[in-house]
Amino acid sequence: GKGEYDHFMLKEITEQPTALAQAIEGRIDPTSGRIGLSAFEPGSFEAIDSVQFVACGTSYHAALYGSLALNQAGVQATALLANEYSVAAPPVDETTLVIAVTQSGETADTLNALRQATAEGARTLTVTNVVGSTAAREADDALFIRAGPEIGVAATKTFSSQAVILTLLGHRIATDLRGEPSADLESLLPALESMPSRIHELLEHSDAEAIAEQYRDSRSYFFIGRGLGYPVALEGALKFKEITYEHAEGFAAGELKHGPLALVTPETPVFAIFTGQEDEKTLKNAEEARTRGAPVIAVCPDGHPAVEAADEHLSIPETDSDLAGLFANVQLQLLSYYAADLLDRPIDKPRNLAKSVTVE
Ligand code: M6R
Repeated sequence: GKGEYDHFMLKEITEQPTALAQAIEGRIDPTSGRIGLSAFEPGSFEAIDSVQFVACGTSYHAALYGSLALNQAGVQATALLANEYSVAAPPVDETTLVIAVTQSGETADTLNALRQATAEGARTLTVTNVVGSTAAREADDALFIRAGPEIGVAATKTFSSQAVILTLLGHRIATDLRGEPSADLESLLPALESMPSRIHELLEHSDAEAIAEQYRDSRSYFFIGRGLGYPVALEGALKFKEITYEHAEGFAAGELKHGPLALVTPETPVFAIFTGQEDEKTLKNAEEARTRGAPVIAVCPDGHPAVEAADEHLSIPETDSDLAGLFANVQLQLLSYYAADLLDRPIDKPRNLAKSVTVE
């Protein structure tokens, strides 16, 4: 049940420290400092040349996060919408690893893409929350995110757990291809281990409810981010529209000036996500919005230059840039939740949507 919470969504947001601790449990080898995904022997990804992720909705945003992290580690990877895969899939062969990211393991679009990849001779893997799901049974391998059941239609804790597992998996793939772990693993692993307690802290001290109240009369909400902040901007907007029914869009920060800036007015708050990847450029993009009168809410660590430059601030801890976006995402989950609550929306069951979409 929901226990002390009014909604499953808030309960599941609050469960993230536990979900993340379960996701990483036993998957980092403390002696070697390596990523030990026990299903995969060291070297099991040696024969892989490229990775294709297939997924929908929030899982697609986690997949995009994973593909960008792999690109940064020097591995060829792309994230594809599973529902577009049948029309225009890039070619695959036995050196292609196709990773189906699906919380439920039952999404028809994602299963179709997985089946197509299998038929065309790719190696397949699913990252899922549900043991015994169709995706877990049909893919060559399954990696479980162990987030525990998610009841709210809005995916929250499963996004965080997917992104963390894909970050670990990405480093494992890169290590196998390179023959040695990358240097940045040294800062990533301790950052990962402290993540559950730092998310707990963030949840205790978030200003998201006050910000939701302050901007409740807005006409539209925009979310911008760069690098790993980009999938988080997309996810922030999806969550916002899904449960508040208000218009929201996510953009790559640098794209704003290529069109969307025409929509920016004093009635459109812009949430700018800073992940430590070319933040000075994102700050410039946020300032372009502010010049048009839009209120800017910086999602960044305390003391970051964006705090001074923006109207409001949602605080995230200083951490590895591989993970900063995931803290920002938790702030944005809370923002959506409180904005929807103020509007009295049926948060756990938004109109027209189902938890698991089993039709094409
Ligand atoms: O079960 P899946 O992860 O495959 O579901 C994919 C999407 O339908 C799902 O993430 C959807 O976008 C969520 N309701 C978003 O909160």
